[in-house]
Amino acid sequence: MDMLSCSPSITTMIRMDHTHVMAAFHRYHAETSWWRKRAIVELTCTALEIHAQLEEEIFYPSLSEAMADDERLTKSKPEHDKMREDIAKLRAMGPDDAAYDARFMQLMREVMHHVADEETVLLPTAERALASQLSELGMRMTKRRMQLVAQYRPGAIAANTVGTFPLASFALISIGALALAHCLRPAAPRHGYRA
Ligand SMILES: [Fe+2]
Ligand SMILES: [Fe+2]
Repeated sequence: MDMLSCSPSITTMIRMDHTHVMAAFHRYHAETSWWRKRAIVELTCTALEIHAQLEEEIFYPSLSEAMADDERLTKSKPEHDKMREDIAKLRAMGPDDAAYDARFMQLMREVMHHVADEETVLLPTAERALASQLSELGMRMTKRRMQLVAQYRPGAIAANTVGTFPLASFALISIGALALAHCLRPAAPRHGYRA
């Protein structure tokens, strides 16, 4: 079977990434032990970094024609840069630091705002303007993700080893499995409804 023609769309993958990051974030609570906090933060930040890089290398450039000079697209990269700065600051702190919780919450507030803009404007625009390319872009994203996960693996494995995150590798690499499952599922009848 041709993997390219049956790959999940890039917009489905981006939404799933967002969902995974939010799921990881919701496991973080003020009373959580510091080592678990560190594992959650490391997983979340690594997933965010990989996601941002994938969007910048593959998704945003594809959208640039449909949304040329549109501020809702051009502000995305600077927002990623700010996120990377905040992640670096967070990594330099210990979870026993009094400001650790607040800094992580602040990072996630900004991420949620950014995600909301992507899901309400960028993804629907891509689905209209790039409809015929969405699967191919999805496959490119999966291939690039595999390379990036291999580069980032030490941090992800550390988070996993702590034992707190059975979802760690899932959140980072599951999209490849999703792509495969998508290809192997039985073809759905395409009858559609007619009014
Ligand atoms: Fe983004
Ligand atoms: Fe995103």
